[in-house]
Amino acid sequence: MAKILIVYDSRTGNTEKMAGAVADGTRDVEGAVTTVTSVDKAKLDDLLAADAIVFGSPTYYGNMSGKMKELVDQTYNIHGELEGKVGGAFTSSGGTACGAETALLAMLQAMLVHGMIVQGRHDDKHYGVAAIEAPDDNETGLCRELGKRVATLAVALKG
Ligand SMILES: Cc1cc2nc3c(=O)[nH]c(=O)nc-3n(C[C@H](O)[C@H](O)[C@H](O)COP(=O)(O)O)c2cc1C
Repeated sequence: MAKILIVYDSRTGNTEKMAGAVADGTRDVEGAVTTVTSVDKAKLDDLLAADAIVFGSPTYYGNMSGKMKELVDQTYNIHGELEGKVGGAFTSSGGTACGAETALLAMLQAMLVHGMIVQGRHDDKHYGVAAIEAPDDNETGLCRELGKRVATLAVALKG
């Protein structure tokens, strides 16, 4: 089984709702098993055990939240050991063109520094899913699709 780990930060619940929808999408994929965890509870061992890691953070000043960055910075202790894992990202922001894309790219950048594999998307939402505040039906569908794409790739790479 390919292990999918979804780590999210959420102060007011919007990103948490997205995490649930991403997890639902992964569960559509045979051969994938999914864990969802708050960044407060995430451990480096959880990241090491996963075949795919999806980060979800609220957009804070055009970036990931401080708590998510703290987890990313802790991964210095396992640098090199996330190589080849599948990655993905989602964010909730307060508005459009308010830093959501840069927040997504900040999370994906850390994954690329680790040598992780990130699949883009050619048709809109190129870098991951961004919702404005709580995800609406369209954004919830995009979260499910992200989960499905990440899990499909992880299962394929697991062979
Ligand atoms: C410290 C802080 C910084 C924020 N910075 C931004 C920002 O740069 N751009 C934006 O669109 N929204 C910003 N927001 C709004 C949040 O991204 C938005 O309310 C989001 O839906 C919160 O997600 P959550 O419910 O998962 O905590 C900020 C909120 C806080 C508390």
